[in-house]
Amino acid sequence: MLNNLTKTERGLNIAIAGSSGGIGAGFIKQLARSGAPIDHLFSLSRTQPASMPVNGQWLRLDLEDEATVEKAATAIEEVAGQLDLIILATGILHDKELQPEKDWSQLDPEKLSKLFAINTIGPAIFIKHFLPLLPRDGSGILAALSARVGSISDNRIGGWYGYRSSKAALNQLIRTASIELARKRKQAAIIGLHPGTVETDLSAPFRNNRYKRFSPEESAGYLLQVLGSLDRDASGKVFDWQGEIVPE
Ligand SMILES: NC(=O)c1ccc[n+]([C@@H]2O[C@H](COP(=O)([O-])OP(=O)(O)OC[C@H]3O[C@@H](n4cnc5c(N)ncnc54)[C@H](OP(=O)(O)O)[C@@H]3O)[C@@H](O)[C@H]2O)c1
Repeated sequence: MLNNLTKTERGLNIAIAGSSGGIGAGFIKQLARSGAPIDHLFSLSRTQPASMPVNGQWLRLDLEDEATVEKAATAIEEVAGQLDLIILATGILHDKELQPEKDWSQLDPEKLSKLFAINTIGPAIFIKHFLPLLPRDGSGILAALSARVGSISDNRIGGWYGYRSSKAALNQLIRTASIELARKRKQAAIIGLHPGTVETDLSAPFRNNRYKRFSPEESAGYLLQVLGSLDRDASGKVFDWQGEIVPE
């Protein structure tokens, strides 16, 4: 699908949300060095990154504050009109007060609310303000970083109740939005992506040698290849870094 995008006469308009994170920054670096024709590269995050590529512009985005999401979308519409590629690379698994649950005795309403606020409700609000920026006529894609552990049928080892279920709910939001998008933007798509195990702050406390690990740039490179290989039938589904469908 990204291949179709690069065939347009004008340069691409791209937004990366979560650009301060490991994988988000990996996307910015990969795109900046890809040589793809880019007119506008919007970098969205809570804190401004130290440097920006050529054609890059930073806008503040806090998923827990809808006004910032709406303001960023309005600013992009004014500058670029529409977006060809939107990547939402935000998410949380742990922080100082929050660790993934090992068993049900650790389930805690406040911690669950935090995970759902950032992994599910924030992306829902982002979808609300950013899907309308995809082209009315022509290809465009919104890809949200999900996780394989959000798959219900693939859940064999349990644990991580909040993270798993917040990502499963994100996958359902993606599926639901894809149905409306097919009516409103016929050639556009919304998908989920599983990036593999990537060496970022998010995965740092949980890495082991059972899984192949990628640098953020490697993972972003694989995911851009996946985006290049998809067609519109992909809309509503979740794909891993190899382009395989993650089961529901
Ligand atoms: N790393 C992995 O192995 C792995 C595996 C599977 C799935 N994923 C998914 O990939 C995505 C990116 O993860 P990562 O590994 O790059 O993690 P990361 O380095 O911790 O980055 C997380 C990003 O989310 C942003 N964020 C958190 N709360 C936010 C909020 N309220 N508003 C706006 N942005 C917010 C962070 O911004 P701040 O800098 O402002 O905090 C940061 O940019 C996540 O959805 C994660 O679940 C990662």
